[in-house]
Amino acid sequence: MASKDAVSNANTDFLKLYEDASPAARWPLVLSWVKFSSLPFFKQLRDKSPVLVAPECTLLATYEDVIEVMKQPRLFTVELYKPKMGDYLMTEDETPMHNTEKAIMLSFLKPEELPRVRKFVAEYAQKTLDDARGHIDLAVDYSRMVPTALVQNYFGLDGISPRTLIKWSYWNQYDAFHNQPFHHLPNMDEVHANMQRNNRYLGYYIAWLLVRKWFRIKFGFAQDNIATRVIAAKYPKDAKFGLARQGINIGGLLIGAVETTSQAVIHALDELMSRPDVLKSAIEAAKSPDTAAFDRYVWEALRFNITFRYCFRTAAQDYVLAKGTPRETAIAKGTTVLALWQSAMFDAQRFPDPEVFNPTRDFGDSFHFGYGSHECMGKHIGKVMIPEMVRQVLLRKGIRADAPVDYRGGPVPEGYHLSWQA
Ligand code: HEM
Repeated sequence: MASKDAVSNANTDFLKLYEDASPAARWPLVLSWVKFSSLPFFKQLRDKSPVLVAPECTLLATYEDVIEVMKQPRLFTVELYKPKMGDYLMTEDETPMHNTEKAIMLSFLKPEELPRVRKFVAEYAQKTLDDARGHIDLAVDYSRMVPTALVQNYFGLDGISPRTLIKWSYWNQYDAFHNQPFHHLPNMDEVHANMQRNNRYLGYYIAWLLVRKWFRIKFGFAQDNIATRVIAAKYPKDAKFGLARQGINIGGLLIGAVETTSQAVIHALDELMSRPDVLKSAIEAAKSPDTAAFDRYVWEALRFNITFRYCFRTAAQDYVLAKGTPRETAIAKGTTVLALWQSAMFDAQRFPDPEVFNPTRDFGDSFHFGYGSHECMGKHIGKVMIPEMVRQVLLRKGIRADAPVDYRGGPVPEGYHLSWQA
């Protein structure tokens, strides 16, 4: 979506439109450009106004400024997550709770198991596509279903329908990342209420899962999966990681995995499909059993059509950003800062020839999974799951998109129909 709009909007003078707009019209304009014209808008910001002090938020467009904020989680906090995520670890900035719980959970996500994860994803994806017999709505039957299968089989959130898990992940992600006060959603209360209602059921399910798994462990017939490992482990008292905390973190595995993967897989495919020459060579690369070269196509496609264009942080105190540079700007306590991850990934200081689609570009400094102390806990899983899911689609003979991605006016892909020769 972003890149196609980028072409049609390449000549728009966003900053002039912004200056000429009434104060009330400015923020809605900025929001729509971030959503529909991110690449040309961000380029103009980098070139002419790298720190834009807009009515609701301050936007940072250079790599250096984005990093300056991301590196200081106690000054630029995740305050806005609190009303959305209760007391999940993600709502705290480098506190003992955040650091301890993240370290515990990471210790169960073992890097040596990634080849197994990739194999599972490949086989499940293949079977899903085989069963679809030449036509699929990716958003409904693939991009959410495959990560959910991993959540059930590897993370261990079993004994429930995948569609229910998908619904729970969806409303949590929607409310936390697309329903902040600055998004000005007309139905913001309804979205928040949907999240709360779904979370009540997620809570009941997790309680039941804890009991089931605990009995299995106690009587010696537990299957190995992440939830079982979390429950079976012994923790020092100081860790304060009792059953309730274990349950919250097991729920977090679901919420983190599904909707994010879905967006990433569809964004990457959409981008590749919009570049016929690149698509051709990506399909060739997909045929190689050594997936390293292919994976780079996917990350480069996502740079142009990223999953999360920015992250939002709240200034905990008055701060002077980019001190001593021409961009120096005072940021007042309480300001919402949008660190424009996608813009940073087009900053020529860090990404040479940023406008060129370069399938040999290194994953390097990318922000696909965030940065710093809040960097994604599932990054290594995402790094194998997303490209493998894209790869399996591209291996289908004569693969083509029947229609553009359908967002149904919302923030995430809701429909994407593809066909191939079965
Ligand atoms: C595969 C399973 C996944 C799990 C279990 C997971 C879990 C998490 C958790 C717990 C955090 C918060 C870390 C913290 O606050 O310290 C996080 C952050 C993040 N995740 Fe994931 N995630 C997964 C997949 C993904 C995918 C596929 C993407 C996108 C392609 C993604 C993008 C992000 C981003 C951008 C952040 C940073 C948010 C911020 O800085 O505010 N995650 N993830």
